[in-house]
Amino acid sequence: MGIKMSLPLEGRVALVTGASRGLGRTDALTLAKAGADVIVTDILIEDENLEEMTEKLGPIAQIMAQTKTVYTKSTAEQIRGLGRRSVAFRMDVTDRQQVNSVMAQVKEQFGRIDILVNNAATLDHTARLEHQNDDFWERDLRVNLTGAYNCCKAVWPYMKEQNWGRIINMASVAGTLGGYGQASYSTTKAGILGLTRTLALEGARFNITVNAIVPGIINTEAFQMSNPEMRERMIARTAFKRPGEPEDIANAIAFLVSQEANYITGVGLPVTGGIDLFTF
Ligand SMILES: NC(=O)c1ccc[n+]([C@@H]2O[C@H](COP(=O)([O-])OP(=O)(O)OC[C@H]3O[C@@H](n4cnc5c(N)ncnc54)[C@H](O)[C@@H]3O)[C@@H](O)[C@H]2O)c1
Repeated sequence: MGIKMSLPLEGRVALVTGASRGLGRTDALTLAKAGADVIVTDILIEDENLEEMTEKLGPIAQIMAQTKTVYTKSTAEQIRGLGRRSVAFRMDVTDRQQVNSVMAQVKEQFGRIDILVNNAATLDHTARLEHQNDDFWERDLRVNLTGAYNCCKAVWPYMKEQNWGRIINMASVAGTLGGYGQASYSTTKAGILGLTRTLALEGARFNITVNAIVPGIINTEAFQMSNPEMRERMIARTAFKRPGEPEDIANAIAFLVSQEANYITGVGLPVTGGIDLFTF
């Protein structure tokens, strides 16, 4: 007699933003392997108007588009290959109408939305204050902070109605420690922690938990594109003397969105390999 082992996220419907590559893509695949149906969303979709989008998105996005490092639809296909339901949607987190419309379509097609991972962000420039590009400041606030707010607000009524929800927001050690040359980025990531704690308080009565992940440096395509000397200096600051892998983040998320984590809310979980520890 075999014992039927069910997967921890079986029957759950998850949506990940900014999942065309990097951490978002690995999060989507990991949640699917844990049993969830997963909606893969990004502003970039392979074969669709990449030039027009990348002009708006900045330098890293342009390189990603030119090198075809865009896996939104193919990630959804991969998830279907795992036996889970999955669709890919273009969703610009700054576009409230589009966010609301995608969430409504997901609710219609999948019946529920249990898990939201607010992963989309821009991390493509560093400059000291006097050289900060004002347009990048505005854009980073819009994408990293207002984008997460837009998505939380759009799923909130569905999660309330279900009396169950899990929201994960991506912060960063740049938000907790500050980041040299990262005025806009670190400000948005500090803001994400405030949003997380506030929504944790408001969500508790509806069984909605809201937590943040605070990554250190993680080995994604974007990380590999950063300045090599800066990269080495950052690696040297970790206790492990190596960057984390995308799975290190995704596994922490898979735990926080599971039923087992139902008394954990409002935390910013460091997944940093000790980059935030004092050393000398
Ligand atoms: N990689 C790291 O070392 C690291 C460290 C700390 C925090 N983080 C955080 O983790 C998350 C993912 O990082 P990553 O390294 O995978 O970055 P990435 O740049 O590879 O991925 C970001 C994704 O967001 C998408 N995106 C950008 N603007 C968007 C918009 N308006 N609407 C929808 N999607 C949009 C991009 O197309 C891309 O797919 C980010 O929130 C980042 O701040 C990463």
